[in-house]
Amino acid sequence: MAAPTFESEKVLVIFVLGGPGAGKGTQCERLVSQYGFVHLSAGDLLRAEQNRQGSQYGQLIADHIKEGKIVPQEITIALLRNAMDQAVASGGKTLAGHDVGPEHKDKWTGGKGRFLIDGFPRKMDQAVGFDETVCNSRFVLFLHCSEEVMLGRLLERGKTSGRADDNEESIKKRFRTFVETSMPVVDYYRKQDRVVEVDSQQDVAKVTEDIRKAMDQTFAKLGQAA
Ligand code: ADP
Ligand code: C5P
Ligand code: MG
Repeated sequence: MAAPTFESEKVLVIFVLGGPGAGKGTQCERLVSQYGFVHLSAGDLLRAEQNRQGSQYGQLIADHIKEGKIVPQEITIALLRNAMDQAVASGGKTLAGHDVGPEHKDKWTGGKGRFLIDGFPRKMDQAVGFDETVCNSRFVLFLHCSEEVMLGRLLERGKTSGRADDNEESIKKRFRTFVETSMPVVDYYRKQDRVVEVDSQQDVAKVTEDIRKAMDQTFAKLGQAA
């Protein structure tokens, strides 16, 4: 089998998981500048591919997203690999126009990079496929939130998000997929003692503070400079 695209010693990958509306995107955005991460949301990459003129996967992605189903892993992994490639090759810039900034450039030289990958892996085959073909992840940040709170947040977000899946019917399907298909992935990493869990029902700033503390402790344990 071909070697993974990235060397795990050079490229730090942290997966950010949690139910729909747990606050993954919100928290990742708040963490990038402090740690020099590039934030990649699997869902955002899929929506961009869905809207890309000439994409052969547009309809398939749209159908899966509306039904809250997991898109076949080859598609999502290829999108992530491309986005990672692009960020590493450009020293920390993303296609979306984000740049990690001068204070973090040393973490992005000579093929190095550090990523928060949000909303991935959502199914066991994605976890295994990514490890084998892209690179090993370091740990998983898991944002814990009740369905009741997530439902309220998503209905509120749906008023302005324009997302085809921020409606009660799709949300219920997404919750089901999360419990049946995505929680087993979290449990798989838990068994390996690689899950850092934070309560994301608190206000946004407190969640960020708790994540920072938990991440700094984990980096110290792993011997990785934050
Ligand atoms: P996810 O990426 O996990 O689906 P988002 O980050 O998009 O979740 O958050 C879902 C919605 O909830 C957004 O409208 C966001 O502004 C809001 N939100 C996120 N975190 C919190 C929080 N801690 N308290 C209240 N609202 C939040
Ligand atoms: O993370 P987000 O809520 O943006 O994901 C939206 C949808 O994109 C999911 O409900 C699912 O249909 C699809 N998705 C996927 N595989 C992932 C991430 C998202 O199929 N790893
Ligand atoms: Mg999100």
